[in-house]
Amino acid sequence: MPDVQITQLNIPEGMINFGVGQPAPSLLPLEAMRKAVAHRMGHDDPLLLAYGVEQGNGYFRIALAEFLSEKYGTPVQPNDLFITTGISQGLDFVCTLFSKAGDTIFVEEPSYFLALRIFADHRLNVVGIPIDEEGLIIEALEEKLLEHKPAFLYTIPAFHNPSAVTLSESRRERLVQLSQQHNFLIVADEVYHLLTFADAPPPPLGSYIGTGTVLSLGTFAKILAPGLRLGWIQTGPTSMQRLVDSGLLESGGGLNPFTSDMVRSAIELGLQEEHLNYLKASYRQRATALSTALHQHLPPSVTFAEPGGGFFIWLRFPEEVDTMELREEARRHNVSFEPGISFSSHQGLRNYARLSFAYYDLPEIEEGVQRLADVVKKHLA
Ligand SMILES: Cc1ncc(COP(=O)(O)O)c(C=O)c1O
Repeated sequence: MPDVQITQLNIPEGMINFGVGQPAPSLLPLEAMRKAVAHRMGHDDPLLLAYGVEQGNGYFRIALAEFLSEKYGTPVQPNDLFITTGISQGLDFVCTLFSKAGDTIFVEEPSYFLALRIFADHRLNVVGIPIDEEGLIIEALEEKLLEHKPAFLYTIPAFHNPSAVTLSESRRERLVQLSQQHNFLIVADEVYHLLTFADAPPPPLGSYIGTGTVLSLGTFAKILAPGLRLGWIQTGPTSMQRLVDSGLLESGGGLNPFTSDMVRSAIELGLQEEHLNYLKASYRQRATALSTALHQHLPPSVTFAEPGGGFFIWLRFPEEVDTMELREEARRHNVSFEPGISFSSHQGLRNYARLSFAYYDLPEIEEGVQRLADVVKKHLA
């Protein structure tokens, strides 16, 4: 048999790779999707297989808006939702329509490493703004605004990837004010907003779309399943017009209409809600297991903040540690992680590492941390 690969992941046998920011196969909702598909296909409607309307199926947007209004605790209107094939595609599309090669954009430092790849594809000039435990530092943003006029600022406001921090409410307000004063767009990647373990984050940046400066991107990849390739952009009428009037949609129709219909059933039958509750409980347990094991086994010179949601723990090592080198050693001991430099817009953050608790079960988390701790202790010695 040829070695036929069917998923993105390819982890070597025996390796525990904390670099993987994806749900474990055991957390994928096979049964829920079986029910949702049977329900929708039972309607015998051939239009399920037609080109979709550009903005996204109206009934799906009504169901999604109701779901988000309840979960966000702030009203979301179906007309403010545009359906995408996930945040990655949404980001790529936003770059296509709202920037051109050579434009400057702002990102957090650190930022999601694969968003940095998308920005590189679009030949954008990326400027990093530092963060602290309350998220993006507004004074640092104000300083950069004296030097640059960004096409947009990309931010991950809740349970940030990789740092797990959440942007405080007062900073959200100041950020939005600055976007109006300086006329730049805020591209908010709200991917982990609904994956809360304890306190809910402040209302999403999507609740500020009335200003005309905000696009809020969401995805089913983290609340239902990544293989569905389904997400949304919540935005006001001016940006919506730009999205809907594009050549891509005129030619191909709305994005992912068939899957939208299946997920509409998952929402309407309560299966999405049920799965989200299950995921939150599972990730909370895994986050606690990872944090406990790290506290127990790692030397105290390696520090981190407790995650209140999302997928990640962001480790800070002493200044002299280069986590690229550390990862080489770790891999030889069958454990791995994502080094800090991946998340930097300017080759910094060398003494940081991102660990995800989404992929592994509790015994593997414990085993992986023990392996990692052995490597770290030797490295520091
Ligand atoms: C911050 C962030 N944005 C976007 C994505 C990808 O979203 P999607 O699967 O909807 O393309 C991820 C997945 O890891 C992420 O962490």
